Amino acid sequence: MKHLLSMKQLTNDKIHHLFKIAKDLENGDLSWQAEGKFAANLFLEPSTRTKSSFHIAERKLGLDVLHLDGMDSSLTKGESLHDTLKTLEAIGADVAVVRQSEVGILDSCAENLNLSLINAGDGCGEHPTQSLLDLYTIQEQFEEFEGLHVAIAGDLKHSRVARSNAHALQQLGARVSFVTKPEWKDSTFSHRYITMDEAVEQCDVLMLLRIQHERHEQKTSASSYLKDHGLTKERESRMKDDAIILHPAPVNRGVEIDAELVESEKSRIFRQMTNGVTIRMAIIQALLKGEL
Ligand code: CP
Repeated sequence: MKHLLSMKQLTNDKIHHLFKIAKDLENGDLSWQAEGKFAANLFLEPSTRTKSSFHIAERKLGLDVLHLDGMDSSLTKGESLHDTLKTLEAIGADVAVVRQSEVGILDSCAENLNLSLINAGDGCGEHPTQSLLDLYTIQEQFEEFEGLHVAIAGDLKHSRVARSNAHALQQLGARVSFVTKPEWKDSTFSHRYITMDEAVEQCDVLMLLRIQHERHEQKTSASSYLKDHGLTKERESRMKDDAIILHPAPVNRGVEIDAELVESEKSRIFRQMTNGVTIRMAIIQALLKGEL
């Protein structure tokens, strides 16, 4: 496998292989270095975590890094994404990391590319590297996925994180439930819907999603969302003792989650970001070595 575009490409064996590489990296094994190789990062939608953690992951592996901003590139002159990627390949890039808004376009670009293409989030489509770091964080806590109950809560309809995670968690043997407002249900999901009050009492992992105001026509009221659907301190007090809280971030403090719970004992939100560097190193290493 040359590209990572969707969690649907990864068998459980491949996911666990990536976790093994990540664990070795975490334990200081930097014996594989990609000196002389180039990564090109092309972010056409905003990003803090994915963009900066890919940069750090690439530098730790010894790659030279080229950052392309959409506004500075010839995409603004009408060049297609496919031709931009072919150009990056022609000038010597070995890996291209792309965030952009059009679902499915990376699949057609990838057909004709020799460099390794990594999907860093495609609109409401998928976010496979986020999913892998989420799964790695869950495995750190529980070791196994079989029998775990994971509740994914929030703006499902617009969430590439939910799409990637729902598929992968189910494939790994976890039970996945959804919590959302009726207007954010997504008919492409066939999972069980529960209330936030049921979720906090039943789940082992509560995965909160950001309300994606930028993809909505009508603004959601922050205070009523927290009270009706979010993780308040009262709801958190009813969670199982060893349950954990995940959120891909950026977090709307006081909307999906009470501001004080972001850094609470159950929260793994900043741990997810730390794991994001290690997992992205593992993905780049595995793709460049032809191990996926
Ligand atoms: N979780 C995530 O993708 O964050 P960024 O949008 O900041 O990259």
